[in-house]
Amino acid sequence: MNSFRQFETDRNLDSPNRNISPITTKINKEGSLLVGGCRLSDLAKRYGTPLYILDEETIRTSCKAYVQSLKKYYPAPSLALYASKANSSLVMSSLIGSEGMGLDAVSEGELITALRGGVPGEKIVLHGNNKSERELRVAYENKVTVIVDNFNDLLLLEKIVPPEGPCIKLMLRLTPGIECHTHEYIRTGHLDSKFGFDPDQLEVVLKQIKEFSWADLIGLHAHIGSQIFELNPHKDLAIVMADAFKLAIEIGHPITDLNIGGGLGVKYISSDDPPSIDTWIKVIANALVKAFQSRSISLPRLLCEPGRSLVATSGLTLYEIGSQKNIPGIRKYISVDGGMSDNPRPITYQSLYTACLVDRPCDDKNVEIVTIAGKHCESGDILLKDFPLPAPESGEILGVFGTGAYNLSMSSNYNRIPRPATVIVNNGHSELIQRRETPEDLLKFDVLPDRFIAFN
Ligand SMILES: Cc1ncc(COP(=O)(O)O)c(C=O)c1O
Repeated sequence: MNSFRQFETDRNLDSPNRNISPITTKINKEGSLLVGGCRLSDLAKRYGTPLYILDEETIRTSCKAYVQSLKKYYPAPSLALYASKANSSLVMSSLIGSEGMGLDAVSEGELITALRGGVPGEKIVLHGNNKSERELRVAYENKVTVIVDNFNDLLLLEKIVPPEGPCIKLMLRLTPGIECHTHEYIRTGHLDSKFGFDPDQLEVVLKQIKEFSWADLIGLHAHIGSQIFELNPHKDLAIVMADAFKLAIEIGHPITDLNIGGGLGVKYISSDDPPSIDTWIKVIANALVKAFQSRSISLPRLLCEPGRSLVATSGLTLYEIGSQKNIPGIRKYISVDGGMSDNPRPITYQSLYTACLVDRPCDDKNVEIVTIAGKHCESGDILLKDFPLPAPESGEILGVFGTGAYNLSMSSNYNRIPRPATVIVNNGHSELIQRRETPEDLLKFDVLPDRFIAFN
C-alpha cells in the first residue's frame, strides 16, 4: 500500500507537474529517499525540521517546458512569466530570470524580491485588485507593466505618472465569465469575482484609456483559476479574448500582448491526472491561432503566468514524527512538528497530499491507516487524513510531497511558530536559501510601550 514505487509509477521527466515527487527522486541502496542527489533524512539532520526542500532540476525542467512549448506551438513571440505568489524568494527570482522568463508580482514585497533577484522590470507585470499608490509608484519607477484591474488603478496612476512622461505600460484584466471545476476560492474567471473588468465595462474603460496621454495600453489579460485539469475552459478563453482584442483594436488601441494567466494543475495524489505543460500550451496556442485568424487579427505576443505547475512538485516538506494517539476503532493520530502554519492548504481548501517515511519509502509491512496532525491549537490542523504508512515511529522523518507552491508563500506564524528554513538541492549539494525563523525573530515586531513594562 504505502509504497513509493506504487504511487510514483510512469514518471514524466518532461512535465514535472504530472509527478507527485521531484523528478530527481531516487531510492538508494539502503532504501532511503534521495532528492537532487541528497538523502532527505541527512538534510533533516543538518538543517532541522520542519524543512522545505526545493529541487532545482525540477524547477528548471518546468521552466524549459513552458519556454520551449511556447516556441514549438505558437507562431509569434511569447514570454512565460512565473506567478511568484506560488513561492517568492531571491533564489526563485534569480532562477526564473536565468531561464529567460519574466515574472508576475502582486505586491511591493513580490516586486522587490523579483527585481533584487535579477528579473528586469521590463519582464515583470504587477497585478492586484487593490493596488496601493506606493506599489504603483515602485512599478512605474522600475518599468514594470501594470495590469489594470479596476477604475481605481487608473485614478491612482493618473496621479503618479508625470505629464512629461515616459508613459506607463498597461494591460487590462478582464473577467471572462468562464466556469471551471476547481475550488471556489481559487476560481477567478467567472463573473462573480473580485478581479478584473466585467465584459460590459470593457468598452467604457478602453475609451477612457484612449484619453490618457500618460498611458500606453499594450494588451489584455485574463486568469480563469488554479489547479485546473480541463482544457476546454482555456479554449473558450481564446475566443473571449480574441473578441476583446478586436474591440480594443476597433476603439483605436494598437495592442500587441495577450496574457492568458496560469492555472495548469499538478498531481498531488495518485488519482490526479493533469495535462502536461506541452499539451496545455499546444491546446491554447492552437485555439488562439484559430480564434485570431478567423477574426483577421494578427497574432499577439503570448504571455502566460504559471505558478503551481512550475514549482509545486519540485518541493516537499520534511517533518519529524512526535506523539501518537490511538483511538481504537476510530483513528490513529500521528503528530508532526509543523502543520497548518507551514501548509495552510489542507485546512483552507481541504487539499490532499501524498507522504512517506523518507528512510522507509518502500516498506509495505505493518501498514496502518493514520492521520497526520499538525502541532497547532486547532482540531482542523490535519495534513493528511486516513493515509497508509508502515507503523510510523516517533523520531522518524516524514516527507510530504508537492509542497513547493502556496505553502511557504501562504505560511503564517500561528501559535507563534517560526517558519521553516528552505533548502535548494542539486547534484548532491544542498544550499540554504531561506533561514529558519526563531521565536526571537517573531518578538522583533512587538512593541512594549513603557506603561506596560511595570508588569514584567
Ligand atoms: C492573475 C494570476 N495569474 C497567475 C496565477 C497562477 O496560477 P497557478 O498557480 O494556478 O498557475 C494566479 C493564481 O491564482 C493568478 O491569480
